Amino acid sequence: MGTFRSSTLRAKDGRDVVLRCATPDDAEQLLACAREVRSAGVGFITTPEEFNLSVEDERKWIQELSDNPDALLLVALAGEWIVGNINFRQHARTRQRHGGVFGIGVIPAWQGCGIGEAMVRALLAWAQESPRIECVQLVVLADNPRAIRLYYKCGFAVNGVKPRAIKYADGIYTDEISMHIFV
Ligand SMILES: CC(C)(COP(=O)(O)OP(=O)(O)OC[C@H]1O[C@@H](n2cnc3c(N)ncnc32)[C@H](O)[C@@H]1OP(=O)(O)O)[C@@H](O)C(=O)NCCC(=O)NCCS
Repeated sequence: MGTFRSSTLRAKDGRDVVLRCATPDDAEQLLACAREVRSAGVGFITTPEEFNLSVEDERKWIQELSDNPDALLLVALAGEWIVGNINFRQHARTRQRHGGVFGIGVIPAWQGCGIGEAMVRALLAWAQESPRIECVQLVVLADNPRAIRLYYKCGFAVNGVKPRAIKYADGIYTDEISMHIFV
């Protein structure tokens, strides 16, 4: 994992939240956080049922990102509890390695407090310091205005739309939007 110095942010409701790199010992809590974020059923391509990693899988994934200098995995902690995370990984292919994609989630009880924005800005600051990362990319679903607004606010631009790429169980479609920012 690239260098990241832990920081504390004051959430909009006055509570302190610490941002730090994840360690393999966070596996169980990080998985619980990811499941809780997905429980609302919106925002992700993967369904909650398809998201079925074990704690051991999660531990390996954290270790893999920790060993990669061009990856970043941050957790947001309220007291001892992980309430959000952001993960970025550089593309694997040589011609795409100047860029990478991130995923982000904040548990429902802590959404709207400024944690998502703090994590995106921390990722962008880290990417600016990285000698190899030039572009940060993401994919967001068109029916997720909260996330889209956050990305625009942080300077991302839309670079493509896949119409009706997502079809929900009830037959409703939504588009997949790609966004990026050069750092
Ligand atoms: C999207 C998500 C990461 C945003 O994190 P967050 O901590 O809730 O967002 P923040 O409190 O930092 O808000 C940052 C900005 O997001 C936007 N935002 C936040 N809450 C919003 C809401 N209820 N409605 C519209 N925009 C909202 C605003 O632009 C806000 O800035 P502002 O309050 O100064 O206007 C979070 O809501 C989440 O995890 N959602 C579920 C999972 C998900 O959608 N992940 C992204 C997949 S691409």
